[in-house]
Amino acid sequence: MIDSDCIDIKWMKRAIYLASLGKGQTSPNPLVGAVILDKYRNLISEGFHSKSGMPHAEVMAFNNLKKDAKGGTIYVNLEPCCHHGLTPPCVDKVISSGVKKIFISIEDPDKRVSGQGIKKIKDAGIQVHLGLCAKESLELNRSFIHRNNTGKALGTLKWAMSIDGRVGLENGMSKWITNNYSRSLVHSYRADYDAVIIGGNTLRKDNPTLTTRGKKNQEPLRVVFTKTLDLPEKSNLWDCNVARTLVVYDSSTANTKYLKRIPDNVEIEKLSTDNPQSLSKLLAEKGCNNVLWECGPKLSTAAIKSGCIQELITFIAPKILGGSNSMNPLLDFEFRDMNDVFNLKEPEISIIGDDICVKSSFK
Ligand SMILES: NC(=O)c1ccc[n+]([C@@H]2O[C@H](COP(=O)([O-])OP(=O)(O)OC[C@H]3O[C@@H](n4cnc5c(N)ncnc54)[C@H](OP(=O)(O)O)[C@@H]3O)[C@@H](O)[C@H]2O)c1
Repeated sequence: MIDSDCIDIKWMKRAIYLASLGKGQTSPNPLVGAVILDKYRNLISEGFHSKSGMPHAEVMAFNNLKKDAKGGTIYVNLEPCCHHGLTPPCVDKVISSGVKKIFISIEDPDKRVSGQGIKKIKDAGIQVHLGLCAKESLELNRSFIHRNNTGKALGTLKWAMSIDGRVGLENGMSKWITNNYSRSLVHSYRADYDAVIIGGNTLRKDNPTLTTRGKKNQEPLRVVFTKTLDLPEKSNLWDCNVARTLVVYDSSTANTKYLKRIPDNVEIEKLSTDNPQSLSKLLAEKGCNNVLWECGPKLSTAAIKSGCIQELITFIAPKILGGSNSMNPLLDFEFRDMNDVFNLKEPEISIIGDDICVKSSFK
């Protein structure tokens, strides 16, 4: 049983809200917010981690103190760090501040912390209450926790389809299935991700831009995963003034003569394409907590089969494309029994003009 009352829940929820203000900006770091009360339980400061390289939430809150924190309480949605990273350990700040109590929602899964921050604070004689609003905190930092536990970036797969479940015509035409509002919403969604992934064929067919259209200062990294490297000389993704682009190709299958089509400002990496997990791992190593897969049926299916996808965003438009050769969102998983099919969690459904947006995740 957690020793807490409604007031503690209120302040922890405030810390979680503050943490959420850093969404899309903090990777590879987590989202963290902190609230400090004085010994009379009055709010005397708050802060959040706004961007990787910027002060941690606790430090920001201690730097903004309006009164002495001695004898006070601090609320933080993630265990304070106890290691030297880009900034000094937050536990030292907590201990030297003279606070009496700290509410920590969840432990930091980072192996350099993982309970050791809590131990240091306890050893200094500060009361530690762990677990308040843990469900909300786990959800908020889902991608950070996933990357720390698996070494891979959390994957969301997004597609847009007609009411008869088609993502494009037989000739590859798929622009535009959904309405302007849905497309604008996709630009906003991209702002929450560290990278957006497509396959080489989507680049050839659609020549997408894959940006937030200015909704995020630092645009997500645009990633093209290709076996052949047969990419066009002209492409919107080659303009790296708007956003960085990374081409990841398989040196065992690609024709490297095509490398000369790719401008110098585009980043290039070699990787086996046999299992897209290698891409999730590479992007995690590059500091991506989460990635948005916006690929067509072939790469989407390979990504699901290899466990790269944890969440799904599906837009459904009131159109009928028809035709047995029109594109399905996914290829065959070779299920032969209904007991084998994927069952998803209860979806979140919203109406976007005349489109429907369904968000779900794998169980
Ligand atoms: N409606 C929608 O939401 C939506 C979204 C995206 C795309 N599309 C449509 O989908 C079509 C393209 O479909 P697609 O399935 O070819 O998509 P894709 O996104 O281009 O994925 C397939 C490509 O990914 C690369 N790849 C790398 N590793 C792979 C692996 N392990 N397995 C499979 N592919 C791998 C290959 O590129 P290389 O060929 O370069 O080697 C392959 O051709 C286009 O017509 C596009 O308009 C629709």
